[in-house]
Amino acid sequence: PSVIPVIAIDGPSASGKGTVAQRVAHVLGYHYLDSGAIYRIAALAALQRGINWQDETALVHMVHDLDIRFSQGEIYLNGAIITEAIRTEEISRGASEVAVHPALRRALLSLQQGFRQLPGLVADGRDMATVVFPDAQTKIFLTASAEIRAERRYKQLMEKGIHANLAEILQDLQARDARDSQRSAAPLLQSANARLLETSQLSIDQAVQAILEYSRSDNQFL
Ligand code: CDP
Ligand code: CDP
Repeated sequence: PSVIPVIAIDGPSASGKGTVAQRVAHVLGYHYLDSGAIYRIAALAALQRGINWQDETALVHMVHDLDIRFSQGEIYLNGAIITEAIRTEEISRGASEVAVHPALRRALLSLQQGFRQLPGLVADGRDMATVVFPDAQTKIFLTASAEIRAERRYKQLMEKGIHANLAEILQDLQARDARDSQRSAAPLLQSANARLLETSQLSIDQAVQAILEYSRSDNQFL
């Protein structure tokens, strides 16, 4: 059995998964998998190739010629830097549209599991604890109220100098949450043995500390 430790962090959009997961990985010296980026890349690559986000067969076929690399804070698709290009609102929507297809999810499975390398992995997404790493040592379901998450996303955009509308962000976020939770393939849900971490009232630091403590106590039983 694989004894390479995994901390799986799932949750809805803008709950803080990426920020918190990267910090936990940094503290522990673990690798980090941003699984949402993989679905975003699939949506972007399809757009570039004129493939419809609904066309499951073409999407699965496309996966075989995607060369995806994460290096020093940049994301590369077939040699081109696409770090910023996958963060647009259009690609956020596209990612959640391509992510409904079970065959595409299967095609992306081994790519994600390949990130499990020594000394360990922190992985964030929607189905890390349920599907991709069901034997993860530590499972966290990170959440916060929709209003707080919309505010966080709003601030994030403003800091990047991107003009945004809070009401529209809240609407988009709720539409995407609904699509992610209601799809039949790997829906967003709290795994039975995952710990719930509600961060509406928690700072990033407090969330990081809570996860580090969970992971320490889970490791005592290894
Ligand atoms: O990856 P995910 O979409 O879940 O969220 P994120 O991009 O990591 O976090 C969204 C925003 O919320 C970031 O600007 C974080 O700095 C912020 N955040 C926060 O203010 N308080 C927290 N406890 C967690 C995240
Ligand atoms: O940052 P945010 O939480 O808004 O999104 P993300 O984590 O980058 O994921 C983008 C989209 O990819 C989500 O809305 C999901 O539909 C999909 N996704 C998924 O289906 N499974 C994952 N493990 C990660 C993301």
